Amino acid sequence: MNQFDPLARPYRWLEYLVFQKSLEQCRFGLLPALAGCRRVLTIGEGDGRFVAELVRRYPEIEVDCLEGSQAMIARARARLPEQAAVTFHHADAVCWDYPVAEYDAVVTCFFLDCFRETTLADWVPRVQRALRPAGCWAVAEFCEGRSGWRRWRSQFWLGIMYAFFRRLTSLEAKRLPNWKRLLTETGGRVQEEGTIHGGLLEWSTWC
Ligand SMILES: C[S@@+](CC[C@H](N)C(=O)[O-])C[C@H]1O[C@@H](n2cnc3c(N)ncnc32)[C@H](O)[C@@H]1O
Repeated sequence: MNQFDPLARPYRWLEYLVFQKSLEQCRFGLLPALAGCRRVLTIGEGDGRFVAELVRRYPEIEVDCLEGSQAMIARARARLPEQAAVTFHHADAVCWDYPVAEYDAVVTCFFLDCFRETTLADWVPRVQRALRPAGCWAVAEFCEGRSGWRRWRSQFWLGIMYAFFRRLTSLEAKRLPNWKRLLTETGGRVQEEGTIHGGLLEWSTWC
């Protein structure tokens, strides 16, 4: 499994140093789509900034957070108010036994980029089965520019990030997987989407 424990403490500051608040803006861009959800699963929650904002906006919501790093879970727990209905599961998301038709939404923020397409191809359908019939999958991710300056810029940043994360976390991915193709092939349809930071980051919801 990817090893993010050593990064838990500096993760937020490294992110702010490189992208300022853009990644946070991208994650929080998903929140309006989660209004009205009763049960949500976040996968690869990280240091808890997303789930903390989720329960702040929607205090009645019940959240399961699936996360492979104990150090990230400790940071995430510390951000939450006592009354928040959040359960952490310390597990490998690739092997987890997902319940069927349990969640109104699944959220993955900067998580799909950690895996090779072959891993995701087997995993995506299992996550989709965890959604209720009208459920949605909310994704925040990096985005490869199609051509010209945007393509060059995205390849530059993705190259640096993969080199960094592969060295420090034994990340299995070497490049951004084509997760949109995988979601589409398994029946997913885009509901809403948007880009920020000059198109380097994107958020989308899939039903
Ligand atoms: C790139 S970080 C993203 C964290 C957060 N979602 C964000 O928006 O910044 C990836 C997170 O997924 C977790 N992770 C990576 N592989 C995992 C796996 N196989 N099972 C569970 N969690 C995993 C890492 O521990 C880390 O917290």
